[in-house]
Amino acid sequence: MQLSRHPVKATERLDDKVAVVTGANRGIGLAISTLFARAGARCVMVARHASGAEDAAKLLRSEGLEAEVDAADVTSCESVRRLADSVKRRHGWVDVLVNNAGVFLDEDRRMSPDAVDLGVVQRTLDVNLYGAMRMATAFAPFIRAGGRIINVSSTMGQLSDGSDGYGPAYSISKAALNAYTQSLAAVLQKREVMVDCFHPGWAKTDMGGPRATVDPMESAATALFLATRPASDRTGLFWRGRDPIAW
Ligand SMILES: NC(=O)c1ccc[n+]([C@@H]2O[C@H](COP(=O)([O-])OP(=O)(O)OC[C@H]3O[C@@H](n4cnc5c(N)ncnc54)[C@H](OP(=O)(O)O)[C@@H]3O)[C@@H](O)[C@H]2O)c1
Repeated sequence: MQLSRHPVKATERLDDKVAVVTGANRGIGLAISTLFARAGARCVMVARHASGAEDAAKLLRSEGLEAEVDAADVTSCESVRRLADSVKRRHGWVDVLVNNAGVFLDEDRRMSPDAVDLGVVQRTLDVNLYGAMRMATAFAPFIRAGGRIINVSSTMGQLSDGSDGYGPAYSISKAALNAYTQSLAAVLQKREVMVDCFHPGWAKTDMGGPRATVDPMESAATALFLATRPASDRTGLFWRGRDPIAW
């Protein structure tokens, strides 16, 4: 497998920055890790299983890029705490945290909002919302001034666009992730850390499926834009491409 070439602009360099990306073994997380490493970042690729991250890291190394791997299940506080300790021990700080790990369960794709299986909702929130909360809570204390937290969200959580009832657990998880992005941004702004979320498009990944239209490297380009955009008071925004969009 080879990831498409996406040009890295001179204004979007991450040289010597420490970036942590969850769900880095495949899909959009792998594309973000690759693009960040091409932009000069020291990227910590986090996967549920170290072997999965190691296979993905080999792809980056085959391009001559540096790639570090670590393992964490974002549904476990203990696992996330171990990850944070290990990254802090090796690097001392983090500049960019990307909360990308996510699930859209098959049961949810078939579930109607008027016949909800709370177990499906719980399993979805545990990764998509609580996972991001666990990661932010563990990493925020050692994200440096000028740092970024980027949450990978979805327009399926966009309240202003209405809903057709599809994927109720996933939609709720992303709407809640957007709300969390705003509140986290308000607090971390005082430490000059910006927090944003973005819609990656309908990306060709296991989650997006074969009919999806967006190359995951295009999704990664938005993450790189958010990781390198100039410091601003306008933080806690929801983005699509390079434009803020309505919640
Ligand atoms: N693809 C799209 O069209 C699309 C559209 C809008 C938003 N998004 C969002 O983009 C993000 C990435 O999606 P994708 O399309 O790349 O999906 P994907 O190909 O299904 O990859 C999901 C990633 O999340 C990881 N993950 C799941 N549960 C985890 C857990 N408990 N702990 C740690 N990692 C876990 C998976 O690890 P394993 O390999 O171990 O399962 C995998 O690396 C998600 O947040 C998704 O909601 C995607």
